[in-house]
Amino acid sequence: MKLVLASKNQKKMKEMSQILGHLGVEVCLQADVGVDIEVEETGTTFEENSLLKARAVMEATGLPAIADDSGLCVDALNGAPGVYSARYGGPGLDDTGRYRLLLENMRGQSPRTARFVSVITCCFPDGEVLTARGECEGTVAFAPMGEGGFGYDPVFFLPKLKKTFAQLTPEEKNAISHRGKALELFRAKLEDYLNRT
Ligand code: IMP
Repeated sequence: MKLVLASKNQKKMKEMSQILGHLGVEVCLQADVGVDIEVEETGTTFEENSLLKARAVMEATGLPAIADDSGLCVDALNGAPGVYSARYGGPGLDDTGRYRLLLENMRGQSPRTARFVSVITCCFPDGEVLTARGECEGTVAFAPMGEGGFGYDPVFFLPKLKKTFAQLTPEEKNAISHRGKALELFRAKLEDYLNRT
């Protein structure tokens, strides 16, 4: 089965393909099926935005579409950047600029506890909608560490492992990450759906 990913983020796609590949599911980008739509994330929750993206891409392609809406929620910042993680600090910033801004906003703040959240939604042309949520607890590091991953990975510290997400191999990250957990749950729901249809 082919699922069209409602994102242009290659690294997200790689993470999702690695996990869902075991099920014989192929995740492809919109561009691979000749579609290029930018869905406006007007929702205020991960669930709403995830559904908006998956539904729009399913309607545009006529194929099952999967979306991940994710972000980093920091307790001392009342849950920010949260659903606005990709847009934190405005359009002029890249990943490095955004995590630097986060470190700046965390100066002198406590606690430094935070969690990554991922909500996966898959919309099928027959009207079926599958949703799964995963979370991963950690803290905001005092300085960036590691070269792997993307986004806020260099500043998301896992106290038990004494490493940031960016210091883990892709397999290590997938095993504990918010997206890994959401995808595992989704995988079970997808298996159930495929058995029913
Ligand atoms: P989305 O594409 O609207 O879901 O935006 C998610 C944003 O949250 C990304 O642009 C990243 O900044 C951040 N994010 C989500 N998941 C991760 C992750 O696994 N590592 C680092 N940053 C992430």
